[in-house]
Amino acid sequence: MVISEQQCQTALSRLKVLLEKRYPAEIGSPEWEGFQFRLEETFPTLLRHLLELYGHHFDFYYHLERLLEVMADAWLERSPDWKSTDAMREADRTWYKSGHLIGAMAYVDLFADDLKKLQDQIPYLKEMGITYLHLMPVYKSPEGDDDGGYAVSSYREIDPELGTMDDLCDLSAELRRQGISLVLDFVFNHTSDEHEWAKKAYEGLEEYQDYYLMFDSRQETEEYQEHLRAIFPDERPGNFTYLNRIKKWVWTTFHTYQWDLNYRNPEVFNAMAAEMLFLANVGVEVLRMDAVPFVWKQKGTNCENLPEAHTVLEAFNAIAKIAAPSMVFKSEAIVAPDEIKKYMGPDQCQISYNPLLMALLWEGLATRNAKLLRTSMEKRFEIPDGCAWVNYVRSHDDIGWGFDNGDAERLGINPHDHRLFLTQFYAGKHPSTFAEGELFQEDPVTGDARVCGTTASLCGLGKALREDDKEELELALRRILLMHGVTFTIGGIPLIYLGEEIGMLNDHSYKDDLDKEGDERWLHRPRFDWGKAERRTQPESVEHIIYEGFLKLTRLRSNNIALARGETEIVDPGNDHVFAYFRTTREQSILCLANFSDKAQTVAAPRLRQLGLKKVLIDIIAGQTVIAAKKLELEPHQFMVLLRQGG
Ligand code: GLC
Ligand code: GLC
Repeated sequence: MVISEQQCQTALSRLKVLLEKRYPAEIGSPEWEGFQFRLEETFPTLLRHLLELYGHHFDFYYHLERLLEVMADAWLERSPDWKSTDAMREADRTWYKSGHLIGAMAYVDLFADDLKKLQDQIPYLKEMGITYLHLMPVYKSPEGDDDGGYAVSSYREIDPELGTMDDLCDLSAELRRQGISLVLDFVFNHTSDEHEWAKKAYEGLEEYQDYYLMFDSRQETEEYQEHLRAIFPDERPGNFTYLNRIKKWVWTTFHTYQWDLNYRNPEVFNAMAAEMLFLANVGVEVLRMDAVPFVWKQKGTNCENLPEAHTVLEAFNAIAKIAAPSMVFKSEAIVAPDEIKKYMGPDQCQISYNPLLMALLWEGLATRNAKLLRTSMEKRFEIPDGCAWVNYVRSHDDIGWGFDNGDAERLGINPHDHRLFLTQFYAGKHPSTFAEGELFQEDPVTGDARVCGTTASLCGLGKALREDDKEELELALRRILLMHGVTFTIGGIPLIYLGEEIGMLNDHSYKDDLDKEGDERWLHRPRFDWGKAERRTQPESVEHIIYEGFLKLTRLRSNNIALARGETEIVDPGNDHVFAYFRTTREQSILCLANFSDKAQTVAAPRLRQLGLKKVLIDIIAGQTVIAAKKLELEPHQFMVLLRQGG
């Protein structure tokens, strides 16, 4: 939408008059000037997005004024410490790209019981070099099943079992002191059915029913339903839930107790903007935008990735730039490869999960072949300037085989059969498998399924240990380090699920827990085993080997600027089992080679010369010189990091 300079200036002047009236005491202070400056700078963008979304509402300017108050109030409540961080970050807007971020994620209760005790574990995080910590939702949520906290009953209250809001603020301040950026979720597509807005809606208050997407007849929902995919098909077909008391259907993309918010209502947008800024003021440096592709619905579409979902995101980001400028957004868009990147940009999400890399790394391990990984990454790794990938092997969620069908077909792979193979492989149902995972949400209609399991279990560690098979054990350990080797060096922010660094295996106990038994994702969310963590110091223990592997990767990043923040170029090493890429800065050029095969592989010397490598090379992982006279040899699943000399 094009808006004239004039329109924009008129609106801004009106708002400034309002500010002067409402906040007379603040006018003229340097902090206030800063706020005003950012408001002026970002206002044209914000106004354009809001007009796109809500311009047709007769009371548009009323809502705009309320939003301005939300921003100004939040800024006034922001602590001096965070304001000085804001100032620092404004001088270094792409701070998250400096290469220093190494991420970890955890459930507070499973890792450390509660927020206070988590603070005591900061030394463990520091030991590993963690500088980014994503805590899974810590907010008040319904008793019992709450989708691992993703059903939020109040964004301003903490789940009492984890502590209080004061505990969270203490923790965030301490993390900041220790140089660790706090990452929290903004679960903004839905609230739980126990949120006060939901309760009021359920009591019949129309104003609050309008906060959600409610329908009087089944037929209306069916007009949408025919185009929608089911997220949890084996638990519950359909995306709507009937509320008997008010005789209405409510939109529930995920579970029946997670009600989708109605972003067509400007009041919802403003109310959520206030919740977002509240979280920013708690000390969130990276806000994880949960389930972003789903926030806008339009009849006749699949209601995912609609242009307005991007506009909502851009509008929220403009608000953050004005009232909490040190906070950046991270996209959680687990969607088709072509859609993932569209959520990234300096004005949307500055960082994003890289679910395609994640899925293709697992694909490579199963097929012992890196061709699909290479060809997909060649064209899909590049992202907009000023953005960064978050590269991970496992998260708290399932693995979906979200590669592009066309990418697969060009290699002669039948995408449907290939997905079926991968699922069977990781569910431990294929003869060639080493993996021990479980199926997740097998769709009774399409036969599609996703996979659960921890990194170690999916890499075959559990099986090898149980069968006391030394050879397999060695391979499993190499697989684990290969997978993380790539995420730590390919470019972006590496992210581990805490427990991966000590090889935590699947936890089957969720099957005995009524609140968890229906959700196989709990298989890979084990309670952190501190006894196991202790063993990281015992030479030759499995924990020690994996842990030391992690430390080495962390050190490699801090000692080699190209690994921390070089440009990435995916290359073809002339052997499809080997995944290869350069990381390059002006000072340094590094070639990483990951052998996805469980057999030794070679890269021919002429190919290496073409890539600009000499005969004598230094492998900085093994810490030794390698001579590639006729060829370079890689052991089964070896991960090599070679310095290109003179480059
Ligand atoms: C996100 C979370 C997932 C949750 C869903 C619904 O995708 O990662 O765990 O089930 O959102 O909030
Ligand atoms: C789907 C959704 C994602 C969600 C996940 C939960 O992949 O796209 O948002 O986290 O399901 O399993």
